[in-house]
Amino acid sequence: MKPRILVTREVFDEVLAQLCAELEVEPNPTDRPLPPEELRARLADKDGVMCALTDRIDSALIDACPRLRVVGNIAVGYNNIDVPACSARGIAVTNTPGVLDETTADLVWALMLATARRLTEAEAYLRNGEWTGWYLKQLLGTDVHHATLGIIGMGRIGQAIARRAAGFDMRVLYHNRKRVEPALERALQARYVAMDELLAEADFVVLQVPYCAATHHLIGAAELARMKPSAILVNAARGGVVDDAALIEALARGTIRAAGLDVFEGEPHFNRGFLALKNVVLAPHVGSSTRATRLAMAMTAAHNVIAVLTGRAAPNRVNPP
Ligand code: DGY
Repeated sequence: MKPRILVTREVFDEVLAQLCAELEVEPNPTDRPLPPEELRARLADKDGVMCALTDRIDSALIDACPRLRVVGNIAVGYNNIDVPACSARGIAVTNTPGVLDETTADLVWALMLATARRLTEAEAYLRNGEWTGWYLKQLLGTDVHHATLGIIGMGRIGQAIARRAAGFDMRVLYHNRKRVEPALERALQARYVAMDELLAEADFVVLQVPYCAATHHLIGAAELARMKPSAILVNAARGGVVDDAALIEALARGTIRAAGLDVFEGEPHFNRGFLALKNVVLAPHVGSSTRATRLAMAMTAAHNVIAVLTGRAAPNRVNPP
């Protein structure tokens, strides 16, 4: 008998075909997020799950699924999964690193440019029929070229963001748990600085850290106060890294100039205070959302799940076997 898995969200046909060749698959063709009780009931007799960041895989769920051997997240981040609980039960947890770096870096740049040049505000102005003609001080933005980019979190995505800065002749500062190799710093033309220095100097502060206890509210009122009043904050990493209430306050008071956000605390139920602000560009967690990248993510997750359930090492296991 083939191992049985649940695929919690709709995936591409070619991914399902790949899975079905090796496993017995229960799909979710309607893409309806499964409420916790339904997830528990559907997963109780499965050997594996291919899930998304909208699924909470916690210890209570794991306890209710005695056969479970692999949790394959269709994401690089895995803060939706209780990894220690999985490890304690010998369950492999896998993610999808590498395949979404460039696409996510593109989206970060889209947010930087859109906030700096007030694009969504400008479009609303035009759509609302407010545009009566050209004038000198119309929708004045700030320059991206020659500005200082500060990247907090210099992993693969941070590096992809830094590489793009060369085309805009930017000065690049970064802060990371660990300083990267000197050769990489040279290639990226990026200078390692303390976080306070980065906050004080950067015209664009870009967050690219995973969410965990150590990064919860990494940017709050105190950090926002250290930034320049002209600075722009961009977060396409995870909600919770920024204290959203503090950010709303800072944007409303002009403590910083603007923010570009793809992720929110408690998403999709984000703080409605953002909607009243003009100096924020908002996106619904679409950093990796191109067809090619989402397909690559789902295929990577499928390969991970298949590997574990056919007795091979998963290419992207995040907890030690
Ligand atoms: C990830 O992979 O963690 C992204 O947030 C999903 O788009």
